[in-house]
Amino acid sequence: MSKLIIEELNSIVDKKLISFHVPGHKLGKIYDKLNYKNTLNKIYSMDTTEIPGTDNLHSPEGIIKESQERASEVFKSDKTYYLINGSTCGIQAAIMALCPPKSKIIANRDCHQSVINACILGDIDPVYINSEIDKNTNILKGINIYDAIKVIDSNLDAKAIILTYPTYYGMTYDLKRICDYAHSKDIVVIVDEAHGAHLGLSEELPKTALEQGADIVIQSTHKTLPSFTQSSMIHIQGDRVNEGRLVSILKIIESSSPSYILMASLEIAVDIYNKYGTKLMDELLNNINKLKNSFKENNNIEFYDTNDKTKIFISTINMGLIGYELETILREEYNIQVELSNYYGSLLICTIGNDSNDFKSLETALNEISEKYRANKSIEKIEYPNNIPVKKLTPREAFYKNKKSVKIYESIGKICGEYIIPYPPGISLTSPGEIITKEIIDYILFCKEKGMNVSGLKDSNLGQIQIIE
Ligand SMILES: Cc1ncc(COP(=O)(O)O)c(C=O)c1O
Repeated sequence: MSKLIIEELNSIVDKKLISFHVPGHKLGKIYDKLNYKNTLNKIYSMDTTEIPGTDNLHSPEGIIKESQERASEVFKSDKTYYLINGSTCGIQAAIMALCPPKSKIIANRDCHQSVINACILGDIDPVYINSEIDKNTNILKGINIYDAIKVIDSNLDAKAIILTYPTYYGMTYDLKRICDYAHSKDIVVIVDEAHGAHLGLSEELPKTALEQGADIVIQSTHKTLPSFTQSSMIHIQGDRVNEGRLVSILKIIESSSPSYILMASLEIAVDIYNKYGTKLMDELLNNINKLKNSFKENNNIEFYDTNDKTKIFISTINMGLIGYELETILREEYNIQVELSNYYGSLLICTIGNDSNDFKSLETALNEISEKYRANKSIEKIEYPNNIPVKKLTPREAFYKNKKSVKIYESIGKICGEYIIPYPPGISLTSPGEIITKEIIDYILFCKEKGMNVSGLKDSNLGQIQIIE
């Protein structure tokens, strides 16, 4: 029977789902705790447009300008702009502002799909740096700096480099070294810090991208801080960025009716970050430590050592339970929702919106699961297809070519006409214009059978795939 969107959302609220996923406000819990309820109770009455007094996101001179200036101070940038179309639009604007048509950009291979989409929109040619994968967990660890330096050296004509930092799984690397090196070659550094808006809240967390010298940083405030989904920020520092062009592109790609609700939620997130953030982050890191310590002697429940400690990756593979199964059990039996799973485990995004009760519920659930689901079956291993496929066409050339559908195994060796993206994390294994490999097809068919979602394909059941004619 069909259900209304609003009915499903109501049922999640009524069940008081325990959220270890985005958005960072954790189903609004942090607003109640910190007394923002009175303001937010009126939020639908505040849904307005540009009228006298409300300023204009696309040429701010009043309250929006001042609000962005406060955010810039708090996040220690030279300039900050609010984004109401997510980090997606910030990434696209940054890339198109720095890279004219037919130019080159360097990107980490596990970049978000918005990077490749920016290359389609702007007719830009991406060159990739391989991403390191942990073979035991398939966790994306980020780039190796020596690989990055090699790619820079072989592509000195690139206008910019864009790097994901931290990775979705909370892994980091020596970003400062890459920023310094890129700058020495006159290459501008854009950092996709979609998963790291909270990093400035503790010395125990990795340094922020701005602290390490990035020129443009895009953060999904909504993912790890308490703002509403789709609200993000773009920060600029230094003088390598043509700010006027960046603003012009934002005007083109963002809505001409920017949501005041989203902008207000960004302002609230900045306020919470500034007034309560450090203390709440200390409490959060303490709760996470306690949880991990309580499983030190339990080999069934393994925690991966993430650099950003607010990301928890739990593997139950030792007890014969794959990540997709763990996710389903947590949701169906314990009312706990994780952010994503891969074959080897589940990733939980913890934010200052999570309280000690969330961690108690998680601890109880994991203890019970470790008793109840212990199985002596051994798990087949699957390697993440980590080789960068050969590129035959740029993403834009491939986008405008005619495509045809073929059976999935017949596509091997052909030029891909669409994205193959395990979702989440939304990172493309093959993009339009690249040669499809057997390694990739084997991987997606294996993981699909085990419970992974694959997006980007016209036939999401993976019967057929689009190739370039
Ligand atoms: C690494 C990374 N970058 C960018 C984005 C896009 O962010 P947004 O959802 O704010 O548009 C995502 C979204 O999941 C992401 O994982």
